[in-house]
Amino acid sequence: MVSFSCAYLTVLAENEKIFQMNRTLHLPGFLIAMEGIDGCGKSTQAQFVQERLQARKFCVIRTKEPTAGQWGQMLRDSALTGRLSLEEEVEAFIKDRKEHVETVINPALREGHIVIVDRYYFSTMAYQGARGMDPEELMRRNELFAPEPDLLVVFDIDRKLAKERIKTRGDKANHFERIGSLIKARAIFNSIKKPYLYRLDAAQGPEILRDLVVRQFSAMYAERIAQSNNTPRAKLNMILNLFGGDSV
Ligand code: TYD
Repeated sequence: MVSFSCAYLTVLAENEKIFQMNRTLHLPGFLIAMEGIDGCGKSTQAQFVQERLQARKFCVIRTKEPTAGQWGQMLRDSALTGRLSLEEEVEAFIKDRKEHVETVINPALREGHIVIVDRYYFSTMAYQGARGMDPEELMRRNELFAPEPDLLVVFDIDRKLAKERIKTRGDKANHFERIGSLIKARAIFNSIKKPYLYRLDAAQGPEILRDLVVRQFSAMYAERIAQSNNTPRAKLNMILNLFGGDSV
């Protein structure tokens, strides 16, 4: 069990009306998933967006998959020690995600926090899909237990540019990152259709990307506030707070 503390959003969470909309599992909070092939810059963006939203006094939990838990560790080790079979790999990613959803993601959403997840089940669709599994089937299996994000950001990038970025940060490509699989993974990411999907050209500068993601989040969150049952004044204050202003 993870404990979170953030006065601002805990207060808002008490009024669950504004958090309960559009959620498949009817959880409060707001889930942002950041996805893309290795080297697309999503981890930098996860951090940048977290900082920007925290500056606006939101409580933001940033987390990632694979996790540091036993299944995540096994998967990471497999990048050095030898790849698991496709079936074993999928099972391990799903077990890792189940644990992550139960112990981190759902509890934080229930508290009304914003959760930014750096890779989620769309990565399983893209990477294990690239290895031969049916991406749609993988999506169905995951959506049985994993809450759908409120905002899914896919950072799209040419794999040559992605590869250069991986090299610049001094990393060697592991078995998840072979060129052929990255091309297929990118194609699967680009075939995803969801109403909450926001696709960005990741060749743009990091600050530009951050501002675009924060703007998209703000627009979606403002919509949620607008549709809530709060008084006009309460809605006005929530929207002012959302954009960093003081209540009136
Ligand atoms: P990555 O985000 O690169 O983690 P780290 O920075 O700790 O190395 O993830 C490791 C690899 O795992 C990445 O190449 C993509 C792969 N992956 C999958 O193949 N399926 C999945 O479901 C997830 C979450 C990741």
